[in-house]
Formats: sequence, C-alpha cells, structure tokens
Amino acid sequence: MVVIKKICCIGAGYVGGPTCSVIAQMCKDIAVTVVDVNAERIKAWNSDQLPIFEPGLQEVVESCRGQNLFFSTDIDKAIKEADLVFISVNTPSKTFGIGKGRAADLKYIEACARRIAEVGIGNKIVVEKSTVPVRAAESIRRIFNANTKCNLNLQVLSNPEFLAEGTAINDLKNPDRVLIGGDETPEGGKAIQALKSIYQRWVPENKIITTNTWSSELSKLAANAFLAQRISSINSISALCEATGADVEEVAHAIGTDQRIGSKFLKASIGFGGSCFQKDVLNLVYLCEALNLPEVARYWQQVIEINDYQRRRFAARVIGCLFNTVTDKKIGLLGFAFKKNTGDTSHKTESGGCLENADRGISRESSSIYVSKYLMDEGAKLHIFDPKVKKEQIIQDLSQTNICDDDPDRVSRLVTVALDPYEACKNAHAIVICTEWDMFKELDYEKIYKAMLKPAFIFDGRRILDGLHEKLQRIGFQVETIGKKVTELIPFTASKETSRNDLQAPAAKKLKI
Ligand code: UDX
Ligand code: UDX
Repeated sequence: MVVIKKICCIGAGYVGGPTCSVIAQMCKDIAVTVVDVNAERIKAWNSDQLPIFEPGLQEVVESCRGQNLFFSTDIDKAIKEADLVFISVNTPSKTFGIGKGRAADLKYIEACARRIAEVGIGNKIVVEKSTVPVRAAESIRRIFNANTKCNLNLQVLSNPEFLAEGTAINDLKNPDRVLIGGDETPEGGKAIQALKSIYQRWVPENKIITTNTWSSELSKLAANAFLAQRISSINSISALCEATGADVEEVAHAIGTDQRIGSKFLKASIGFGGSCFQKDVLNLVYLCEALNLPEVARYWQQVIEINDYQRRRFAARVIGCLFNTVTDKKIGLLGFAFKKNTGDTSHKTESGGCLENADRGISRESSSIYVSKYLMDEGAKLHIFDPKVKKEQIIQDLSQTNICDDDPDRVSRLVTVALDPYEACKNAHAIVICTEWDMFKELDYEKIYKAMLKPAFIFDGRRILDGLHEKLQRIGFQVETIGKKVTELIPFTASKETSRNDLQAPAAKKLKI
C-alpha cells in the first residue's frame, strides 16, 4: 500500500486552494503545499485577506496554515518532496488557431507535466484535477514516458472537481461523489487506492467511485454539460411561457416533482454564466467534431445557442417594452455577478487568474455582461449596481473587445457604476435585475418608484420578486418577468421551418439583435 505523507498542488486558484485546504484539515498527518507561479496570489493565501471568497474557507485555512498547510512559490522543491502532485492549473478555451474559442488550451498542464518530469525523483502519483478533454491524461503519460529518468516512477490519475462557487467548502466536505480514474494495471490500482485512502478519511466509501481514466475525464465534461442542458431546457420553455401565458415557475415545479426529473437546476434565468459550463460544453462539442461525431456535436452546441438566445431575448424584451428604443434612456441594472454569493464575474485571465493581467480567456461569463452589451448596442445609459463586484471589474468586463465592439469609449460614455441601488435607479426608465442577490428583494420600492420616470418598469431576469408582484403593481410599476406572459402579448410568429433568426423575439428581430 502506497502511503502519502506529502502532497503538492500546482495552482492556488478556485480549485486548488479550497480543495487542498480541506484535505489538510482532514488529514493532519499529511503535509500539503500549494504552489503557484503568481507570487501575489501566494502572498494573499498567506495573509488574512485570502485571494478568493468562499463561506467557511477562512476558518479551514486558519485551522491548519503553518502546521500542515503551506502556500509557496517554490514549485520545484514542493514537487521534489511530494508523494502525490495535484495539477490544478487553469485550462482556458483556446483564443487562437485550431479549435479557437472551443478547444481547451492545455499549455499550462503540459508545462506542469514537463516540470514534474524534470525535477521529480522517486515514486509519485500525479493527479489531474483541472477539467481537461478526454485523453489528456494520456498526453501527460506520454510526456512522462519520453522524459523519464531512471530514478523517477510516475502514475497518472484523473480526479475531477465538482465544486460550485459559493458552496465550495460544503461541496468538498460533503461531496455527492468523489471520482477517481486510473490505469487498469496493478500499479494503476495501487495509485487509485492511495488517493482513495485520503478521501476515505471523511467521505463514505460508497461515494468514492473508481473508473478507468477516460471515463473519469469524460464524466466531468458530461456532468457540466447535463447541468447546463437543464438550464437551457427550462430557459427554452420560459420563452414558450412568455408567448402562451403559462408560468415557467409553475411548469418547473410541476415537472420537478417527478422523481425521474428532479427539482434542482430548473430555475429559469437570463442564462447561465460561470467559469465552467460554457467552456466545458464547447470543449465537448469540439471533441465530438474531432472524433467525427457531428450529430452529437450539434446536439450539445444547441445548449450554448439557447443560452445566447436567452440573453438576447431578455435584452430584446426590455427594449421592446420601452417602446422599442432605449437610446439615451437611463436603466438601473441590478446585479453583475454570474450568481449570488460570489463577486466573481469574469476575472480569470488566460495567464492565471489575476486582475492585473489583461489577456483574458473565456472566463466567468456572467450573463449580465451580455445583457449590458445588447443594451449598450442600442445606446442605453446603464447605471450598474452589484453588492460584491468591484467597479474596475465591471468596467474591465464591459471593455472586452467582443463586448464593446472595439469602441472602449462607449463604456465610459454609457456606463456608470453606482454605489447603491437607489442611486442606480434614480431617474431611470427601468430596473433590470440580472443577479438573484437577496438584498434586491428587500429594497424600498416605493422610494425607488417615486424617483423614477413613468411609466416605471421592472424586468426581473431571476424571478426573485415573485412574491412582490401585486405590491409592486399597486405601487405603480409595470413588472415584466422571465418566463411569464409579456404584459402586452406579442403574437407567436415562428413558422414551421423555424430558423434560428425566426426564434428571436419580435422586438429583437426588428432591432436586429
Ligand atoms: C481551473 C480551471 O478553470 C478549471 O477548468 C479546472 O477544473 C481547474 O483549474 P481554477 O482553480 O478556478 O480552475 O483556476 P484559477 O483560479 O485560474 O487558478 C489556476 C492557478 O494556476 C492560478 O493561480 C495560476 O497562477 C496557476 N498556474 C497557472 C500556475 O501556477 N502555473 C501555471 O503554469 C499556470
Ligand atoms: C458549476 C457546477 O455546478 C460545478 O459542479 C462545477 O464544478 C463548476 O461549474 P458554478 O459555475 O460555480 O459551478 O455555479 P452553478 O451554481 O452551477 O451556476 C452556474 C450558472 O447557472 C449561474 O450563472 C447560475 O445562475 C445559473 N443557473 C443555475 C441557472 O440559471 N438556473 C439554475 O437552475 C441553476
């Protein structure tokens, strides 16, 4: 039985940092060193101001930092000493060349593999934690085989992470499952057992699944694709609801009570954001194309198309309701984060997750960014408020070339970042809710209404004001909600041979969004 005494984790990001902190807390006899090329990030991990916000993370880190949990930039030393190395570096979508915008860029993974082969000694288990295309472990293995020194013996495992932002610590401490994939050889089996023995300290045995390497790699992509697909499915139904008079919340509840369907992940929204869904589905599509499975590729591509459509459709509804023009109209946009309880919109950079670096890969992809873009395209004056996302972050996200159409002045002309929601909505024609922050349910809407231009509209892209509709209408608001009939019913126009363009909301068609 291989006994793990020292662990090294390359990549102190959203995945590596919390995962290794929990491992250190659960395994006091194992020394865990998290390393990163980004010295600023490591400095922050060693301070009171951790580089990422996750409920419970600070407590976990403080309970073992300096005892059996260390954060360092000395990558080679940590690799040399470790029995087990996690690779948790980022795998952004490629921004150039073959597979641009879809294939995963594995350059950081490859760099890690080469470094391990160069400086490693003794027996080591190398664990791929980053989300990768199927057969990436095979590439790592080939790099190792071609560079192996006689004093180095490496086993490669796949152990994907399934943690969601905002609940990472709970997801790590009480996982639905831990997945470990490895070689179907005696050595592979021993490596799987060694990693399993770490998780067994706190995860019940029946929740630790072992598979071959490729099943493990594909399961991660498939899990995210299925989750994204559910959101696109309910969002596609929300369009039908708006056109027919059905209510998507009622439909979601009715179908979700069927145990085979289940009630989770059926919340209609302005579309999914986050670092993984879009990236992983596109990665899956690319993989299918590369493997000559065009029908499968097209099937999953549609999940992304519906997500894009939902963002455009919501913006088009805002414009349509505001008498088909938002030019020079003030709009209070509430919420910029891709979901509540995170301040993260898209800060990750291709070169490793720090705000100062300008070259970004496809990243957190908050739908608010796209709704803002479509409204800016029509000349709306956006006053944006988010309780967590910083001003610089919002400006940076909206200044990406694909968002500001190569016209950075447009952002300074059209966007104001407000310090509080009342300021954002003062003298506005409409309020557009993009993130489901709880505080938006508790605002003084009478005060807001008085300070707005009339008719005053609220567009709820997250269904957080459902319980308040009557009250808001009594105050005088015109309330428009995702997945509920538009106040003035727009006739259904999609023809039999419904094309993608036909599926755009009538207002969107007219406005060519
Ligand atoms: C990333 C991927 O986005 C995700 O798909 C994968 O499952 C796990 O890795 P995350 O931890 O959120 O997730 O990434 P990020 O927060 O960007 O952290 C990666 C870290 O790796 C950065 O701090 C970066 O500096 C570091 N890194 C990157 C290295 O230390 N060395 C490198 O060569 C490249
Ligand atoms: C996701 C996966 O949940 C996680 O398992 C994986 O490891 C990483 O990607 P994350 O992106 O942090 O995690 O957040 P998640 O809670 O899954 O939400 C993603 C997006 O979907 C958010 O924009 C959220 O608002 C949206 N969403 C989620 C909906 O629109 N409707 C839903 O019902 C659920």
